[in-house]
Amino acid sequence: MIPSSFIQDLLARVDIVDVIERFYGPLKKSGVDYYARCPFHSEKSASFSVSPTKQFYYCFGCGAHGSAIRFLMEYSSFSYPEAVEELARSIGMQVPQEGRTFKPAEDHQDLLGLTSTAAKFYQETLKTSPAAIDYLKQRGLSGAIAARFGIGYAPDGWQPLQKVFPDYQHKQLLSAGLVIDDEQGRRHDRFRHRIMFPIHDRRGRIIAFGGRVLDDSKPKYLNSPETPLFEKGHELYGLFLAQKAIRDTGFALVVEGYMDVVALAQFGVENVVAALGTATTPHHIKALLRQTNRIVFCFDGDEAGRRAAWRAQENALDALRDDVTLAFLFLPPEHDPDTFVRSEGADAFRTAAAQATPLVSFLLNTLKERCDPASAEGRARLIHEAKPLITRIPADAAAVLRLQLAKALAEVSHLSQAEVEHSCGLAPAPRHQPPANPDFRGNTFRDQAPRRTAPRQPPSSTIAKLLWLVLQHPAFAARLPLGLIPDNSAEGRALIAIIDLVEVGEPVDNLGALIERFRDTPHSQTLSNMATALADTEFDDANVERLFEDTLKKLHADALTHEIDTLTESAKIGALSALDRRRLNELIMEKQSLSTHIKTGNL
Ligand code: UTP
Ligand code: MN
Repeated sequence: MIPSSFIQDLLARVDIVDVIERFYGPLKKSGVDYYARCPFHSEKSASFSVSPTKQFYYCFGCGAHGSAIRFLMEYSSFSYPEAVEELARSIGMQVPQEGRTFKPAEDHQDLLGLTSTAAKFYQETLKTSPAAIDYLKQRGLSGAIAARFGIGYAPDGWQPLQKVFPDYQHKQLLSAGLVIDDEQGRRHDRFRHRIMFPIHDRRGRIIAFGGRVLDDSKPKYLNSPETPLFEKGHELYGLFLAQKAIRDTGFALVVEGYMDVVALAQFGVENVVAALGTATTPHHIKALLRQTNRIVFCFDGDEAGRRAAWRAQENALDALRDDVTLAFLFLPPEHDPDTFVRSEGADAFRTAAAQATPLVSFLLNTLKERCDPASAEGRARLIHEAKPLITRIPADAAAVLRLQLAKALAEVSHLSQAEVEHSCGLAPAPRHQPPANPDFRGNTFRDQAPRRTAPRQPPSSTIAKLLWLVLQHPAFAARLPLGLIPDNSAEGRALIAIIDLVEVGEPVDNLGALIERFRDTPHSQTLSNMATALADTEFDDANVERLFEDTLKKLHADALTHEIDTLTESAKIGALSALDRRRLNELIMEKQSLSTHIKTGNL
């Protein structure tokens, strides 16, 4: 557990504008807030607002909102502890640990230190290695692109790394995957006489390497083993450098090789990543779908390419959604992306990518090729093979795609759609409109979420209004009378929780911090809903103060009314003592005087 006081402290010190600009790109100031095109949905106008005073972002188009922590989690796919750690690091704070449940393990830090030292060593060595430089030149790499990708050279010899790691026998060198202990217990470098490609995690830290031979020897590529830093099947080569281009172009390209990523980037196609010597896994696809909703898988045009594409397709079925496009690009058999872009140019490549075959067509075409739909047996086999595939397409999130596939299958197999659905064990297509599709953050798009024009009105109930005001100005919480807040509504309970917090002296400086403080509590949804309702309202301070005072009076008046009502009820059944009667009169007077002081009933 990270102590929540630390989170509050952290969010009081980081600047969300700064964080978003660093990870996403420049924001434009207008009034007190900053704006940009929303990183979470595609749009032409700038509906995405960032408030430095509230330390909160909000998109008028899709409703995405949250603190700096939430931004890193949503935009850069950080886990919660990762996001906290990143923010802390950026302002030189140290994340304290409560217990040991969360540990970015010193281990981890140590290992990252080792891989980064090794990477520097390889990069330095390249500069003085004519053979390696010649090889890269002959492959057409520019110095600039080699530098951008941190490409290096691991020299020949058994223990070159000893130069930078004098304590060469340290066990962590083994954990980092940099050395190998042979059967006799002798240790040597894992990578020798190879061109080195550092593999970065999403935060740009070096977690592993791929090394290529300079000639035809085998294995052509050697990769780091699985280490505490590097889980194969999870990482994508080039993702860190490609993130921005993926956002900008609106899609991600997945290729097979290191050299493909580097060559395409050199030609200006930068939204490219590679699976690391494995088939594309569901992890890869999920990671990419957090960044974009269009993925183009690029494969060589040969038989091996087709097989790899089929596997990628199988792995993608579970992740399909109606708002996602997955497509396959097959290059001419003699090419891979590296040679293609060098001989045909970037535009030819982009055009080919734009015309890639959508997943459903690829699936159908492949089945048709395999099964000979001209014969009845072939058609039966086709349905048989389609069954395990179509059932993996999510029935809710990808209802339309599933329907399209069922229809297409019906056509090739000369069956009715209902028969296909029945043979494949699918529930009949729903008659009613499928529910709104969750967007890639798992939220639900409101169908025509309009960019709002008129400023939103404060909520009408007193308690909701108070909560709304406290979110606007967390300092108000200290002035609320705890005893008068009824706990019979979600807003009331959230208010009480906030007051409790303030009373024990926890600082709540801004909206972002407040929302974070209540993450994973019963109040998070209430606060989040309310926060979005006020995200675009602008008050000058005097106005907010006046509204707050009036609402407080209203709160008192409500309490009086409640008490008066109770006493009046008792009076009706004759259960009122003389004392109660006096109290009732006092209350009525008090309420009258209070009402005349409430300047505006409804601001
Ligand atoms: P390729 O054999 O298609 O190589 O392997 P390539 O990327 O075109 O490389 P160049 O152009 O010959 O330099 C594709 C990817 O498969 C993995 C690597 O990630 C490689 O980039 N691979 C390949 C290995 O991990 N080990 C190997 O021995 C070969
Ligand atoms: Mn190649």
